[in-house]
Amino acid sequence: MDKFILSGSILSADFRKLEEEINTAIEAGMDWVHVDVMDGSFVPNISMGPFIVETCKKITDIPINVHLMIDEPEKHIDSFASAGADNLTIHIENNPNVYRTLGAIQSLGCTTGITLNPGTPAAAIQAVLPLVDLVLLMSVNPGFSGQKFIPHTVKKVIEVKDMITSINSHAVIQVDGGLNADTLPAIYQAGARNIVAATAIFKHPQGIAAGIRALRDSVA
Ligand code: DX5
Ligand code: ZN
Repeated sequence: MDKFILSGSILSADFRKLEEEINTAIEAGMDWVHVDVMDGSFVPNISMGPFIVETCKKITDIPINVHLMIDEPEKHIDSFASAGADNLTIHIENNPNVYRTLGAIQSLGCTTGITLNPGTPAAAIQAVLPLVDLVLLMSVNPGFSGQKFIPHTVKKVIEVKDMITSINSHAVIQVDGGLNADTLPAIYQAGARNIVAATAIFKHPQGIAAGIRALRDSVA
Protein backbone atom coordinates (compact mmCIF):
# COMPACT_ATOMS: atom_id res chain seq x y z
CA MET A 1 0.00 0.00 0.00
CA ASP A 2 1.20 3.54 -0.77
CA LYS A 3 2.55 5.54 2.12
CA PHE A 4 0.05 7.84 3.76
CA ILE A 5 1.47 11.33 4.33
CA LEU A 6 0.09 13.65 6.96
CA SER A 7 0.93 17.28 6.26
CA GLY A 8 0.23 19.56 9.23
CA SER A 9 -0.84 23.11 8.41
CA ILE A 10 0.70 25.49 10.92
CA LEU A 11 -2.00 28.05 10.12
CA SER A 12 -3.76 26.79 13.25
CA ALA A 13 -0.62 26.46 15.38
CA ASP A 14 0.03 28.69 18.36
CA PHE A 15 2.83 30.89 17.04
CA ARG A 16 3.92 31.80 20.55
CA LYS A 17 5.27 28.26 20.75
CA LEU A 18 5.68 27.23 17.13
CA GLU A 19 8.80 25.15 17.70
CA GLU A 20 7.26 23.15 20.52
CA GLU A 21 4.04 22.56 18.55
CA ILE A 22 5.89 21.40 15.43
CA ASN A 23 8.10 19.06 17.44
CA THR A 24 5.13 17.60 19.32
CA ALA A 25 3.36 17.00 16.02
CA ILE A 26 6.41 15.33 14.47
CA GLU A 27 6.84 13.08 17.45
CA ALA A 28 3.19 12.08 17.13
CA GLY A 29 3.55 11.26 13.43
CA MET A 30 3.26 14.41 11.31
CA ASP A 31 5.24 13.77 8.08
CA TRP A 32 5.36 17.21 6.44
CA VAL A 33 4.94 20.82 7.54
CA HIS A 34 2.33 22.60 5.40
CA VAL A 35 2.83 26.37 5.10
CA ASP A 36 -0.21 28.29 3.83
CA VAL A 37 0.89 31.43 2.01
CA MET A 38 -1.92 33.94 1.38
CA ASP A 39 -1.66 37.37 -0.20
CA GLY A 40 -5.00 39.05 0.53
CA SER A 41 -5.67 39.17 -3.22
CA PHE A 42 -5.96 35.65 -4.64
CA VAL A 43 -7.57 34.75 -1.31
CA PRO A 44 -9.15 37.12 1.22
CA ASN A 45 -6.68 36.43 4.03
CA ILE A 46 -3.01 37.43 4.53
CA SER A 47 -0.75 34.90 6.25
CA MET A 48 2.92 33.96 5.98
CA GLY A 49 5.95 34.52 3.77
CA PRO A 50 9.40 32.99 3.16
CA PHE A 51 10.54 33.98 6.64
CA ILE A 52 8.22 31.41 8.18
CA VAL A 53 9.55 28.72 5.84
CA GLU A 54 13.05 29.63 6.96
CA THR A 55 11.95 29.39 10.59
CA CYS A 56 10.37 25.96 10.05
CA LYS A 57 13.56 24.79 8.35
CA LYS A 58 15.52 25.74 11.47
CA ILE A 59 13.10 23.76 13.62
CA THR A 60 12.98 20.54 11.61
CA ASP A 61 14.33 18.66 8.62
CA ILE A 62 11.03 17.01 7.65
CA PRO A 63 9.76 18.25 4.23
CA ILE A 64 8.28 21.75 4.06
CA ASN A 65 5.22 21.76 1.78
CA VAL A 66 4.43 25.31 0.67
CA HIS A 67 0.91 26.07 -0.57
CA LEU A 68 1.06 29.33 -2.52
CA MET A 69 -2.35 31.03 -2.57
CA ILE A 70 -0.95 34.14 -4.21
CA ASP A 71 -1.16 36.05 -7.46
CA GLU A 72 1.88 35.88 -9.72
CA PRO A 73 3.54 33.01 -7.84
CA GLU A 74 6.37 32.98 -10.41
CA LYS A 75 7.70 36.15 -8.78
CA HIS A 76 8.14 34.48 -5.41
CA ILE A 77 9.18 30.88 -6.01
CA ASP A 78 12.86 31.80 -5.82
CA SER A 79 12.60 33.25 -2.35
CA PHE A 80 10.55 30.32 -1.05
CA ALA A 81 13.05 27.85 -2.50
CA SER A 82 15.96 29.74 -0.94
CA ALA A 83 14.12 29.80 2.37
CA GLY A 84 14.16 26.00 2.34
CA ALA A 85 10.88 24.86 0.76
CA ASP A 86 11.01 21.23 -0.37
CA ASN A 87 7.76 21.43 -2.30
CA LEU A 88 6.12 24.42 -4.00
CA THR A 89 2.45 24.03 -4.81
CA ILE A 90 0.75 26.65 -6.98
CA HIS A 91 -2.85 27.11 -8.12
CA ILE A 92 -4.12 26.55 -11.66
CA GLU A 93 -6.75 29.30 -11.50
CA ASN A 94 -4.56 32.40 -11.48
CA ASN A 95 -1.76 31.12 -13.58
CA PRO A 96 -1.53 31.88 -17.29
CA ASN A 97 2.10 30.71 -17.33
CA VAL A 98 1.59 27.64 -15.22
CA TYR A 99 3.68 25.38 -17.47
CA ARG A 100 6.66 27.70 -17.24
CA THR A 101 6.26 28.22 -13.49
CA LEU A 102 6.19 24.47 -12.80
CA GLY A 103 9.36 24.09 -14.87
CA ALA A 104 10.99 26.87 -12.88
CA ILE A 105 10.06 25.16 -9.61
CA GLN A 106 11.73 21.97 -10.84
CA SER A 107 14.88 23.80 -11.78
CA LEU A 108 15.03 25.27 -8.28
CA GLY A 109 15.24 21.69 -6.98
CA CYS A 110 11.79 21.58 -5.38
CA THR A 111 9.02 19.10 -6.02
CA THR A 112 6.01 20.53 -7.84
CA GLY A 113 2.35 20.72 -6.94
CA ILE A 114 -0.73 22.01 -8.74
CA THR A 115 -3.90 22.98 -6.89
CA LEU A 116 -7.55 23.02 -7.88
CA ASN A 117 -10.13 25.11 -6.04
CA PRO A 118 -13.46 23.43 -5.28
CA GLY A 119 -15.09 25.09 -8.30
CA THR A 120 -12.34 24.21 -10.80
CA PRO A 121 -12.94 21.09 -12.90
CA ALA A 122 -10.37 18.29 -12.81
CA ALA A 123 -9.80 18.60 -16.56
CA ALA A 124 -8.14 21.99 -16.03
CA ILE A 125 -4.87 20.31 -15.03
CA GLN A 126 -4.73 17.72 -17.82
CA ALA A 127 -1.97 19.49 -19.76
CA VAL A 128 0.34 20.03 -16.79
CA LEU A 129 -0.18 16.70 -15.07
CA PRO A 130 3.06 15.21 -16.46
CA LEU A 131 4.97 18.03 -14.73
CA VAL A 132 3.68 17.57 -11.21
CA ASP A 133 4.59 15.43 -8.22
CA LEU A 134 1.47 16.39 -6.31
CA VAL A 135 -2.11 17.36 -7.15
CA LEU A 136 -3.76 19.32 -4.36
CA LEU A 137 -7.55 19.25 -4.31
CA MET A 138 -9.05 21.96 -2.13
CA SER A 139 -11.97 20.66 -0.12
CA VAL A 140 -12.82 24.16 1.18
CA ASN A 141 -12.58 27.58 -0.45
CA PRO A 142 -9.00 28.60 0.24
CA GLY A 143 -8.31 31.39 2.72
CA PHE A 144 -9.02 30.11 6.20
CA SER A 145 -8.66 27.06 8.38
CA GLY A 146 -11.60 25.69 10.33
CA GLN A 147 -14.08 25.49 7.43
CA LYS A 148 -16.46 22.70 6.55
CA PHE A 149 -15.38 19.90 4.20
CA ILE A 150 -17.02 19.99 0.73
CA PRO A 151 -18.13 16.37 0.04
CA HIS A 152 -17.97 16.76 -3.75
CA THR A 153 -14.17 16.51 -3.37
CA VAL A 154 -14.47 12.73 -3.04
CA LYS A 155 -15.66 12.43 -6.66
CA LYS A 156 -12.87 14.70 -7.79
CA VAL A 157 -10.26 12.52 -6.10
CA ILE A 158 -11.54 9.54 -8.10
CA GLU A 159 -11.53 11.55 -11.32
CA VAL A 160 -7.98 12.85 -10.81
CA LYS A 161 -6.77 9.41 -9.78
CA ASP A 162 -7.99 8.05 -13.14
CA MET A 163 -6.23 10.88 -14.98
CA ILE A 164 -2.99 10.13 -13.12
CA THR A 165 -3.22 6.40 -13.81
CA SER A 166 -3.96 6.92 -17.48
CA ILE A 167 -0.70 8.78 -18.07
CA ASN A 168 1.33 6.54 -15.75
CA SER A 169 2.23 9.50 -13.56
CA HIS A 170 3.77 9.16 -10.11
CA ALA A 171 1.78 12.18 -8.83
CA VAL A 172 0.19 11.86 -5.42
CA ILE A 173 -3.22 13.32 -4.57
CA GLN A 174 -3.29 15.68 -1.62
CA VAL A 175 -6.55 16.98 -0.12
CA ASP A 176 -6.73 20.13 2.00
CA GLY A 177 -9.56 21.62 4.03
CA GLY A 178 -12.03 20.50 6.65
CA LEU A 179 -10.38 17.13 7.17
CA ASN A 180 -10.86 15.30 10.44
CA ALA A 181 -11.44 11.73 11.58
CA ASP A 182 -14.99 11.84 10.14
CA THR A 183 -14.25 13.32 6.71
CA LEU A 184 -10.87 11.69 6.05
CA PRO A 185 -11.91 8.02 5.45
CA ALA A 186 -13.93 8.80 2.30
CA ILE A 187 -11.15 10.71 0.58
CA TYR A 188 -8.63 8.04 1.60
CA GLN A 189 -10.86 5.33 0.13
CA ALA A 190 -11.11 7.39 -3.05
CA GLY A 191 -7.33 7.36 -3.40
CA ALA A 192 -5.86 10.43 -1.66
CA ARG A 193 -2.61 9.49 0.06
CA ASN A 194 -1.51 12.88 1.30
CA ILE A 195 -3.73 15.01 3.47
CA VAL A 196 -3.48 18.44 5.04
CA ALA A 197 -5.00 19.30 8.39
CA ALA A 198 -4.75 22.41 10.54
CA THR A 199 -7.64 22.46 13.02
CA ALA A 200 -7.79 18.67 13.46
CA ILE A 201 -4.13 18.67 14.53
CA PHE A 202 -3.29 21.99 16.15
CA LYS A 203 -6.67 22.72 17.68
CA HIS A 204 -7.70 19.24 18.73
CA PRO A 205 -9.41 19.51 22.15
CA GLN A 206 -7.23 16.72 23.57
CA GLY A 207 -4.03 18.16 22.13
CA ILE A 208 -1.81 17.75 19.07
CA ALA A 209 -0.79 14.12 19.62
CA ALA A 210 -4.42 13.05 20.11
CA GLY A 211 -5.38 14.91 16.93
CA ILE A 212 -2.76 13.08 14.88
CA ARG A 213 -3.70 9.75 16.41
CA ALA A 214 -7.38 10.29 15.57
CA LEU A 215 -6.55 11.10 11.93
CA ARG A 216 -4.27 8.09 11.52
CA ASP A 217 -6.68 5.73 13.30
CA SER A 218 -9.52 6.81 11.00
CA VAL A 219 -7.73 5.28 8.01
CA ALA A 220 -5.94 2.39 9.71
C1 DX5 B 1 -6.99 26.83 3.52
C2 DX5 B 1 -5.62 26.24 3.71
C3 DX5 B 1 -5.63 24.99 4.50
C4 DX5 B 1 -6.09 25.17 5.92
C5 DX5 B 1 -6.67 23.87 6.42
O1 DX5 B 1 -6.92 27.88 2.64
O2 DX5 B 1 -5.05 25.95 2.46
O3 DX5 B 1 -4.36 24.36 4.48
O4 DX5 B 1 -5.06 25.58 6.76
O5 DX5 B 1 -7.33 24.11 7.62
P1 DX5 B 1 -8.34 23.06 8.23
O6 DX5 B 1 -7.65 21.74 8.34
O7 DX5 B 1 -8.69 23.64 9.57
O8 DX5 B 1 -9.52 23.02 7.32
ZN1 ZN C 1 -3.20 24.68 2.46
